[in-house]
Amino acid sequence: MSELRRFYIRTYGCQMNAHDSEKVANLLYHEGWVAARDSDGADLLVINTCSIRDKAEHQLYSDLGLLRKWKAARPGRVLGVAGCVAQQAGDAIQRRFGHVDFVFGTHNLRLVPSMLAAALKGNPSLEVGESASLERFDLPERHPDYRGASPGRGYLTVMEGCDMFCSFCVVPGTRGREISRPADGIIAEAQSHAARGVRELTLLGQTVNAYGRHDRRRGQAGTVSFGALLRRLAEIPGIERLRYTSPHPLFFDDDLVAAHADLDVLCPHVHLPLQSGSNPILERMRRRYSVDDYRAKVAALRAARPDLVLTTDLIVGFPGETDEDFQGTLDLVAELGFVDAYSFKYSPRPGTTAASMSGAVPGDVAQARLEELQELQRGLTLAAHRRRVGASTEVLVTGHSRHGGSQLSGRDPYHRVVNFSAASGAVEPGELISVRIVEATPHSLIAEVADTETAGRMRRSLKSESGMADDEGRSTRFQAGAVRRPSGASPHGD
Ligand code: 5AD
Ligand code: SF4
Repeated sequence: MSELRRFYIRTYGCQMNAHDSEKVANLLYHEGWVAARDSDGADLLVINTCSIRDKAEHQLYSDLGLLRKWKAARPGRVLGVAGCVAQQAGDAIQRRFGHVDFVFGTHNLRLVPSMLAAALKGNPSLEVGESASLERFDLPERHPDYRGASPGRGYLTVMEGCDMFCSFCVVPGTRGREISRPADGIIAEAQSHAARGVRELTLLGQTVNAYGRHDRRRGQAGTVSFGALLRRLAEIPGIERLRYTSPHPLFFDDDLVAAHADLDVLCPHVHLPLQSGSNPILERMRRRYSVDDYRAKVAALRAARPDLVLTTDLIVGFPGETDEDFQGTLDLVAELGFVDAYSFKYSPRPGTTAASMSGAVPGDVAQARLEELQELQRGLTLAAHRRRVGASTEVLVTGHSRHGGSQLSGRDPYHRVVNFSAASGAVEPGELISVRIVEATPHSLIAEVADTETAGRMRRSLKSESGMADDEGRSTRFQAGAVRRPSGASPHGD
């Protein structure tokens, strides 16, 4: 092995997984490892897996097959598997793929250094136990050398796990029971993010706005309501944008709606998974709201924050979905005017109640519905983008655009991707700049830098920052891994 030990983390799935990869990267930095550009240059490769749909799981098995060669190409190479598939099927992975050195689930990130040490001595290990302890949140976030995924942006887990048991969803099985962190620890972590230059903080949780609900029910101290947590976080100097993902419609209470009216730093974008626009299907999905309940939440949010952008997740082809049910989804999507939607064909997952439901929708029917829905959404997205042409907005620069050259890319407060040109070195990732939108495309907005002086004044040294990749998998200046998303996967934690 070369003197500098290099690692690469390949991440699939949601932002919670991306954040877990960031935590593992930091554990490795603290052990003296450095980031490789890609798996070819790595002595250690960790695959952080997603099991939300079967496609992602199949991708893992085909990757692992191919990695036999990777492992054999250089003596001493180590291969680890993490994430939701590891949590559920770690045993089987180790039995089937003898070249996998260590497997750890979503509750065991802290064991990575010891598992790695064992692997380097030739001892394989498996850690997939579920932990109900708050310890799992205390990874090296507060370490002064913590390096985030993307300059200027930080993730912060406020709760983990899910007790909703939607009938289609594997997450309660992979992420375990809901557990919320005490508010003081969250505030301290947010302050340390701000101190290292984070301006946009995204709170993560599988049902993030269910934060603290079990503690309140049990009369246990430590957590506060989600709205109160947002209010405390909004006070932290340096935090200029606050986001959260993913909320569940059921936990959108008045307090949270009011926070959208009251807090300037709370971004005017909510990703609110709808899943279906048909009451009978919502019931079979066990979503615990009706179409009217969802409408009412949207109306309240829009009353609180009239410019609010809503995005959503939708599933087509759920067992028993008729043409009429599907029409209900199309109608509601058009009525509510989502600015973007991640839509998926239902995929039966092991251990979920929907997997044994009757009424399977034929694959070609589900495919046709998916295409029709996506076509509708493309039109809505483009129309929403066109309405913004001519307007000014503020962009947090995330990196170079996928179009290359001098094109940079960022996110506006509404979480839309904004691409723009700037002279080399004039604008760096992590800066907040003012731009004017000049063109709309189906996937992004194109803008001109409005005021380079403002950009200059706003600049802050972010030299201590390091990134793994931004949301789109584009590398930032300090690449240490890449977020790969199975096609169509949603970028959030639900
Ligand atoms: N099949 C298809 N889509 C699913 N999702 C979750 N489970 C499944 C499944 N079994 C979608 C939901 C969720 C998003 C993250 O993934 O829309 O909100
Ligand atoms: Fe929980 Fe979201 Fe899955 Fe429902 S879809 S079980 S709320 S993670």
